[in-house]
Amino acid sequence: MGTALVTGATAGLGLEFAWQLATARHDLVLVARDEPRLEEVAASLRAAAGVRVEVLRADLSVPDDVERVAQRLRVTGQEPGGEAGQEPGGARRPVGLLVNNAGFATSQHFVDGDLDVELRALDVMVRAVLVLSRAAAGQMVARGRGAILNVGSVAALTAGGTYAAHKAWVRTFTESLAAELKGTGVTATVVAPGFTHTEFHARAAADMSGLPEVAWLQAPRVVAEALADVRRGVVLSTPSLRYKAASALLRAAPRAAVRAMGHYR
Ligand SMILES: NC(=O)c1ccc[n+]([C@@H]2O[C@H](COP(=O)([O-])OP(=O)(O)OC[C@H]3O[C@@H](n4cnc5c(N)ncnc54)[C@H](OP(=O)(O)O)[C@@H]3O)[C@@H](O)[C@H]2O)c1
Repeated sequence: MGTALVTGATAGLGLEFAWQLATARHDLVLVARDEPRLEEVAASLRAAAGVRVEVLRADLSVPDDVERVAQRLRVTGQEPGGEAGQEPGGARRPVGLLVNNAGFATSQHFVDGDLDVELRALDVMVRAVLVLSRAAAGQMVARGRGAILNVGSVAALTAGGTYAAHKAWVRTFTESLAAELKGTGVTATVVAPGFTHTEFHARAAADMSGLPEVAWLQAPRVVAEALADVRRGVVLSTPSLRYKAASALLRAAPRAAVRAMGHYR
């Protein structure tokens, strides 16, 4: 079924992508910072699904680490290997599906916030997505097949701080990439989840107690809908009827009203 590379595969949506892809018999390359956790996930996936799993520890806010992941994405199947999860002969298989999923909330206001945090967020959610998409698209177009799935957010339609701006970039970038890739056999999809139960809000120390349960999505559903849309070649994927409706309202609303909704951090 081919090899999928998932960034942010230790938790939340990325972990769920890894499980659903492994269940669908994809071999995997798992990327995140927490190496022990990556190894633990890899061992569980190998044992439960019998797929090959490579672990690639990388901090996607660090350009050299992003480049190591890009090098793995450029593999066309001809290169000699030698690391765990590779072919017995040593050749690493080309990646047929890239899931640019890693991300985090900055959880601060822009004006008085920490600029380093802002730059890290930009590097993880914009720069890394750009570099990894370029590496994957080049290899995939040369082979005439493949798919890139970028994880955006419904926040892209709001005036919700730099996080919303990064996700708006992801959406526009992915739509442009999809247009450029037309006819190549390679597709690009952006999934725009609404609030989803993961580690995202706890990591950001965000108090979500005021948000009604009806506003929350479950990761398995978000991931299943996103992967179904990738298989169908859908460019803009918005899991759940609730968030399809919310997105339509946000698109139709006057921008002054959207800005007045408040500042999501
Ligand atoms: N949850 C939501 O409500 C929601 C809604 C819309 C969109 N999203 C988007 O969904 C994506 C996944 O988020 P999630 O909700 O699943 O969050 P999560 O549970 O906190 O998981 C985030 C993942 O990203 C990895 N990560 C964070 N910083 C990284 C870095 N510098 N380098 C490499 N990996 C890094 C983390 O692994 P390590 O800590 O091991 O590095 C972890 O595996 C993000 O792009 C997020 O913006 C989430």
